[in-house]
Amino acid sequence: MPADLPPSPAPDDARRRADELRQQITHHEHRYYVLDDPEIGDGEFDALLRELEQLEAEHPDLVTPDSPSQRVGGAPRDGVEKGAHSSAMLSLENAFNDAELRDFDRRAREALSVEALDYVGEPKLDGVSMAVRYEAGRIVIALTRGDGAHGDVITPNARTLRSLPLAIPAAELRSAGLPSDFEVRGEVVMPKGAFARMNARQQADGKPTFANPRNAAAGTLRMLDASVTASRRLDFYPYMLLGADGDPLYDSHWASLDALEAVRFKVNRLRARLRGLDEVVAFRDKCMGRREALPYEIDGVVFKLDSTPLWRRLGATAKSPRWAIATKPAARQAQTVVEGIDVHVGRTGAVTPRALLRPVEISGVTVSRATLHNADEIERLGLRIGDRVLVERSGDVIPKVVRVVAEGADRCPFRMPASCPVCASPVVREEGEVVVRCVSVSCPARLRESILHYAQRTAMDVDGLGEWLVEKLIDEGRVGDFADLYELGVEDLAGLTKVTKVSPTRLGEKAAARVVAGLERSKRASLARLVYGLGIRHVGARTAELLAERFRSLDGLAAASPEALESVEGVGPRIAESIRTFFTAPRNRELIARLRACGVNPVTEEPPVAPADKPSPVRGKTFVLTGTLPVMTRDEARERIQAAGGRVSGSVSRKTDYVVAGETPGSKLEKARALAIEVLDEAGLQALLEGVGAGTEDEP
Ligand code: IVH
Repeated sequence: MPADLPPSPAPDDARRRADELRQQITHHEHRYYVLDDPEIGDGEFDALLRELEQLEAEHPDLVTPDSPSQRVGGAPRDGVEKGAHSSAMLSLENAFNDAELRDFDRRAREALSVEALDYVGEPKLDGVSMAVRYEAGRIVIALTRGDGAHGDVITPNARTLRSLPLAIPAAELRSAGLPSDFEVRGEVVMPKGAFARMNARQQADGKPTFANPRNAAAGTLRMLDASVTASRRLDFYPYMLLGADGDPLYDSHWASLDALEAVRFKVNRLRARLRGLDEVVAFRDKCMGRREALPYEIDGVVFKLDSTPLWRRLGATAKSPRWAIATKPAARQAQTVVEGIDVHVGRTGAVTPRALLRPVEISGVTVSRATLHNADEIERLGLRIGDRVLVERSGDVIPKVVRVVAEGADRCPFRMPASCPVCASPVVREEGEVVVRCVSVSCPARLRESILHYAQRTAMDVDGLGEWLVEKLIDEGRVGDFADLYELGVEDLAGLTKVTKVSPTRLGEKAAARVVAGLERSKRASLARLVYGLGIRHVGARTAELLAERFRSLDGLAAASPEALESVEGVGPRIAESIRTFFTAPRNRELIARLRACGVNPVTEEPPVAPADKPSPVRGKTFVLTGTLPVMTRDEARERIQAAGGRVSGSVSRKTDYVVAGETPGSKLEKARALAIEVLDEAGLQALLEGVGAGTEDEP
């Protein structure tokens, strides 16, 4: 036992202290994981947990299965058992438009002979459903939905979910009007921020990533080794309360959600009691309008009749109840025909096959191409040219082919080319990779993609330097790398002609001047933008920001040791190696020297100090920005903070003074809350900035 720990208390004291610690830990887990409103920092929380673990290690008779110390998951299991559900776990009927929703309401009203019905609206969380049974206020079993009658027993995994109460004191149950035996059904989700962090970690460790938060939640919840479940953030949002017999406990569904909330379940706060169809439609639109800003993925909105006696009267079909419906967003999938396959050569030389589709509209956008990733994927899909396929578009990602729906009559196979379709150099497939790459570093296609990457808005932001112009400049031999761009004058650009199927268009003087001005402006871009724009493999915009903040100049970054690089958040051996490889290549060294000669050599400055005669509430303070601010861009906010003598950092730590959170904040906000760091919105930041030089005790 380490010398600095207090001697172990006598068993009676130990028991009392263990109880006290459990109560405190349960309280703080609820504040943090359920209410998103912690009262203490995670250091303090860890200290409580460590003390409890220490006590339990010294007095094993004190360990109870529902002690918060047991959330770490036990030894891996050999296999999965099945368990029976207390009553069928049904799925929901979908309404894809207003007419279908109206139809559902009409059928229910007619069957019940009433004028209007009261509904409860809740977002439809896109995760995995789980049923948890409690006896004497303690979890006894947790099951996946399975086939609706039987599910997989996942009790050890469920116990690791910190938003799921392990044991509820009898007095709490009584005051919420709950019996000690009951069942909760709900959805287990991985929050978007946790998903992004977990995938980044998996990638840095060379492990497979998950396609979406739902798959990640499903995979994590069913782990035979529950300690893996414990190491990732999953939340449980209940959506139904049942008695031990599998029937609703309360007459009002709304009241049952309130009761669950009262005994500390994480019941979704985005819920509403609604009268009639108009309120239902308005709530659906409100939820779907907030979809992007929510911390979890939703794939619709669920409406249930509030009165559970009416549930019984309406009953269910074999698959779904007649007292509930899910409204779903318009389909993001459509069928079409693959008319051909071409290959695209990217910035890293990756040769990617693309399906050329008969144009089809998917949620308002015409799609004519979809990525096929690589030859293995074409094989997996069993795809040939001429086949009818299902195509999916989700968010901003490139459309993809989900599966072959029907084989084409004259289908013909596709073979990946053995040489680069642009420069005819050989293509190679590196060991352990599925992607083939063009080996030539001067391949015009690679160059084109690199320059487009360099010029894009999130990198050096060169206005007007679009696809055809870049292609033209490369074809005509005027541009061989980024540095050549800075030699271009208006006279070199004006008059260049874009040939289209319709008619040729010439680049005018004005447009040419815009590009030159954009290039000039890019010389003042931040170091982070340049590091990102250089296109170092595996270095995304976020990593570039952290690298710029840590190393402050290109020279500093180029000279950094692998250890120094790996000390940056999110940088593992693979990224560090890629950065080193980039900066040791003579070609890249020469490029950087030439960029510098053209005036592109940003450094991250030490925060300028606000004039000493102007006391500033911002000076010397460290800020972290997260999410989209309503008015200011992030760059603007950063510049203003720095101008007032503050520092802007990329990650939240104990040294952070303020976190400025906009819409869709990421994990930084969670971390700020955990560390009890003050969180400002844009108005709060403005107020602080405007406070520069005003109203301090030094003033007369
Ligand atoms: S109620 C009998 N409410 O959607 C009705 N389900 O197809 C049981 N889901 O398997 C479901 N959020 O996993 C209900 N607020 C919510 C939900 C929800 C997500 C899932 C659930 C179910 C599927 C329905």
